[in-house]
Parts: sequence; C-alpha cells; structure tokens
Amino acid sequence: MTLHEIAATLMTDGKGILAADESTGTCEKRFSALGIPCTEDTRRAYREMLFTTPGVEEFLSGIILYDETIRQSASDGTPFPDVLAAKNILVGIKVDQGLKDDPAFPDGKVTAGLDGLAERLQEYKSLAAVFAKWRVVVKVGEETGNVALAENSRRLVKYAQICHEKGFVPIIEPELLMDGPHTAAQAEDALVETLAIVFDEFAKSTVDLKGVILKTSMAVTGSENPLRAEAKEVAERTVRALKTSVPENLAGVVFLSGGQSPEEATANLNAMARLEPLPWPLSFSFARALQGPALAAWKGADENIPEAQAALLKRLSLTVAADVAGYTAEMGASA
Ligand code: G3H
Repeated sequence: MTLHEIAATLMTDGKGILAADESTGTCEKRFSALGIPCTEDTRRAYREMLFTTPGVEEFLSGIILYDETIRQSASDGTPFPDVLAAKNILVGIKVDQGLKDDPAFPDGKVTAGLDGLAERLQEYKSLAAVFAKWRVVVKVGEETGNVALAENSRRLVKYAQICHEKGFVPIIEPELLMDGPHTAAQAEDALVETLAIVFDEFAKSTVDLKGVILKTSMAVTGSENPLRAEAKEVAERTVRALKTSVPENLAGVVFLSGGQSPEEATANLNAMARLEPLPWPLSFSFARALQGPALAAWKGADENIPEAQAALLKRLSLTVAADVAGYTAEMGASA
C-alpha cells in the first residue's frame, strides 16, 4: 500500500482508530484504579479481549499498539498483528518514548524517541505495522512562546520524515491537556496557537501532508472547571481552530478523548460531524472513551469477557454513529 492509500484507508468513512497503545505505566494506572493486577499477561489478556471482540472490524480501520503488545499473541498462539490482519484492521504502533524533562527546554516536557527510530520502524514493518503515532503534550495557557513546543514541533517533523522514508503513515498528536480550570474559549485559543506552531514547522519541510494524519484534542472546558461548554460550542470552537491553523492538504484529522467521559466525547464528535464537509475527513482515535466501559466490565476476569466485549462494541457503534452525525444521547441510554 502507498502512504496515501494507508492514510485513506485509516480515514475510511464510518470507521475509526482504536488507540490501544497505553504504555506499561499508563496501563498500571488504568488497571489499578479498578483493582486489576497489571502484569505482562493481564495486559495481554486485556488486549486479546479487545482485539477478538466479534464485529470490531465493522467499526475500526486501525488499532494503535504498544511495543509490548505488537509482540504478543492471542491465547491460541496467533500473533496480535495477524489477529488484526484477519479482520482487515491496519496495525499501528506508538513510537515515541514518552515525555521527558530537559533543562534545555525548561517550559514543558519534550517527547523522546528519535534515536534509533528508523531501525525500530524497520522492525515494526516486519511485524506488519503500517502507521505510527507520536504524542506531544501542551498545557493550556503555556503554549505561547513555548520553547518546548517549538522543539516538539521540530521532532514531529523529523519523526514524520523518518516514517515516510520507511513507508509508515505518521499520526502526529500534539495533545492539549484537559487538566486545569480553563474555559472552552481558552482551549480554542491554545488549539489555534499550538497547531499553528506545529504546522509552521511542517511548512518549512518537504513532508507530504497527504500522508500525515493529525490527532488532536477538542476545544473542551478544562477538567477543573464545572461550567462545561455544550457539544455545539465545543464543535464550533474546535472546527474554527482547525480551519485557522491546519493546512487543507492534510490526509485527515482524528480526535483523542483526553479524559472526557465516553458520552461527552461522543456528543462532541457528533456535533463536529454536523459541521462537515470540512477540508479534511474527521474521525476518532479514542482510547479511554472507547475502552473505559469495557475495562470496567472486564475487571481482569475471563468470565466477564462477553460483557466487556459487548461494552466495547456498544461504544464503538455509538462513536461511529457520531462520526457520521447520527448519534443522539437517547441511543446511548437505550443501546
Ligand atoms: O495518546 C493518547 C491516546 O492515543 C488517546 O487516548 O482518547 O484516552 O485521550 P485518549
């Protein structure tokens, strides 16, 4: 597949991307909140429950894996990449190596992972991966003049170049953190500025944006602010920010859920889909807003697998309905 074909397949109408690329530390956090032991095998069993859910392929164009996961297998011995291939789901891989403090960039975290990236991609290619993800974080209110963001943007470009050289579609994810007391208006301003800084850096490069997907936050109210903006406002603010700062020739835009409840993320996605057509196809690449109910139902026990898989399928069907502007809160309540 060419880069454009991979990107277009990922952005297929009526399908989205499941982010299942939590690092071991993030898994530990999610599991321990529910009293589930976090071992290599419980992480494997959890991912097997997700990936083998009958029917996920109707809703998913791709799944992003973590380094440990791409090397693991289902209990019948089938490697996870083969499980996904059998369902025509493209295999993605998180390739950044997390957020680091660096005294050279004192005003934020910088994302590591460029060292040895070409070699790692080469290996991931042999494990059937065709797209990659790299996450950067930005705190609302700290984006202006952010030297860490400028460095992160340079690294995003370098990462995208290396991905293209190795035949991978890069997902670039400058995540605006939801933490804090900010308003949706402040989130919109931060989104405009962050995306402008990132895409100014791409404009200086020769990276073909038709082979790049943006994974972005929505312009939502901060988690410490009880006066939450409604979906219509979030959608208008997010789409306005995207139109201001995102080049039209990008392959697509997918949203992260960022700590929103599944219901909130779905309603916001639906409100955005109502504003289409836009210069790029919109879709989702949620982790928590898709997995949350399934993880809570699974609880680490085999006997809960059917209930957990039903919960995943329900969230997927509602999210895909939202992606084509066909979701209502009643559907969520009655499904
Ligand atoms: O990097 C973050 C994940 O890919 C998206 O996760 O939907 O829980 O924010 P989230």
